Amino acid sequence: MPLRIAVIASGRGSNLQAILDAIAAGTLDAEIVGVWSDRRDAFALQRARAAGVPAHLVRPRDYGDRTGHDAALFGAIDLAEPELIVCAGYMRLIGAAAVDARPGRMINIHPSLLPAFKGLHTHQQALDAGVTEHGASVHVVTADLDGGPVLSQARVPVLPGDTADSLAARVLTREHPLLLETLRWIAERRLVLTGSRVDVNGHPLTAPLQLAANQRFA
Ligand code: GAR
Repeated sequence: MPLRIAVIASGRGSNLQAILDAIAAGTLDAEIVGVWSDRRDAFALQRARAAGVPAHLVRPRDYGDRTGHDAALFGAIDLAEPELIVCAGYMRLIGAAAVDARPGRMINIHPSLLPAFKGLHTHQQALDAGVTEHGASVHVVTADLDGGPVLSQARVPVLPGDTADSLAARVLTREHPLLLETLRWIAERRLVLTGSRVDVNGHPLTAPLQLAANQRFA
């Protein structure tokens, strides 16, 4: 059975597009049951519609507070019965109530090698820290912002003369294969999320899976 995925996105939606393309190409055994956004102008919504996937807008301003918006958003997502909710550039904090009600069912792609550089402006944070290596992580969403168990990572070098934009572009080229390979392993039940516990090939995951140069896990 294809993995039933809901995607939440606030913006451009290139990670969403990578998932849509992989499903269409038959390289990911999954189905996107819907795309949800908090922003009317999110290009992700247009990408969903172009692919024939239901696209939904749930605007924060229509609800009194974060809890109300979360309840409306995740209540609607629940009705589509996804097995997994993928935050792909969703730029709002998700409250503990919504996260705790869906243990092990939400993942997020974050543009840093977690636990380094949580939050926003991660590429500038990496430049400011003077690191020589940067990258992206896919992690389980918990109530701790960018703090849930890290499933997988892809690494890139920081090069002399890099700007936040050049670094972001280098990281993004590896975000897409990272997210896809992680979703493949979840779809194949090689990676199993149970609450905050993660098993890989039947054993507890002790360190994040690392994306190799061939875009597969080493
Ligand atoms: C990606 O770089 C993703 O890692 C980042 O937003 C971008 C979305 O790009 N997510 C976060 O910063 C989450 N805190 P996309 O809309 O083209 O997929």
